[in-house]
Amino acid sequence: MARDFKDKVVVITGAASGLGYSLCKRFAQAGAKVAGLDKDAAGLKALAEELGGMGASVNTFLCDVTDEAVVNDTINQIIDNIGDIYVLINNAGVSHVSLFKETRAFVLKRVIDISLFGTIYCTKAAIDSIIKTQGTVIGIASVAGYAPLAGRTGYAAAKHGMAGFLNTLRTEVDRDGVKVLLVFATYIKTNLAKNNLSADGTPMRQERPTSGNVLMPDEAAESIFNAAAQEERQLLLGETAQASWDLYHSDPQTYEQIMLSLNEYVFNSTADDGDS
Ligand SMILES: NC(=O)c1ccc[n+]([C@@H]2O[C@H](COP(=O)([O-])OP(=O)(O)OC[C@H]3O[C@@H](n4cnc5c(N)ncnc54)[C@H](O)[C@@H]3O)[C@@H](O)[C@H]2O)c1
Repeated sequence: MARDFKDKVVVITGAASGLGYSLCKRFAQAGAKVAGLDKDAAGLKALAEELGGMGASVNTFLCDVTDEAVVNDTINQIIDNIGDIYVLINNAGVSHVSLFKETRAFVLKRVIDISLFGTIYCTKAAIDSIIKTQGTVIGIASVAGYAPLAGRTGYAAAKHGMAGFLNTLRTEVDRDGVKVLLVFATYIKTNLAKNNLSADGTPMRQERPTSGNVLMPDEAAESIFNAAAQEERQLLLGETAQASWDLYHSDPQTYEQIMLSLNEYVFNSTADDGDS
């Protein structure tokens, strides 16, 4: 039987933009009590206004997921004031586009802190509550969470880490009735590309070439909502994600050649060596 989210508390990180915003809308349409977390106050205000205008139950929280104390405080506030958590969607993320040899180490750490430690802090704070509700933990990973992606060593490390963390967590909490869903997404039309960090940590503020089909955020949110309702373990989101999974696991060298041909632009960087 499909899971029903009506009147259930659904916590979504990175709620102020892109996929997180669409996930908030989709779960709100299903009657969930949505708690949206982000570090972008203006985006949270827009979310609260739009969902509030639909008559949805929505609360927003200014929360940087890399700050463990703030995460703990936010999750406790949600549990105390709204109720036990049924779904946690670890969605906040940022990428970089820069060769490893040119990238400052703090940039790689920032990317890993948001996607991996943000996921660990939020899940740690919420897990006892999710065990009580026999709820679901979701992680928004990427094709870079199971295969290489040139120019994104930090992002690939973060998303591979997220996959290892959540796949292992599943084996521990399955006996508690908790479900874990990993989403390996392909390109979604969001602000991610504009927010990409460069080798020195400054946001790139420009689009980058994409390969394969590009999904709209509402479309991606619908697929994730359905996968959560159906208690799926893994969602390969988008045709490119499925084709990449099949090719990488059957013929990794051919996969790497194709991936490199599509990402040749990352080798044309004019970045300096990052020491300035
Ligand atoms: N867009 C894509 O093509 C694509 C592909 C695969 C996976 N993903 C993943 O989807 C997720 C959502 O990204 P998006 O595409 O919607 O991008 P986006 O930039 O539109 O949204 C990301 C949101 O995360 C928030 N955020 C960033 N750092 C944060 C922090 N420290 N604390 C709290 N919030 C923070 C941002 O403020 C923003 O609202 C990310 O994890 C991303 O890696 C995106």
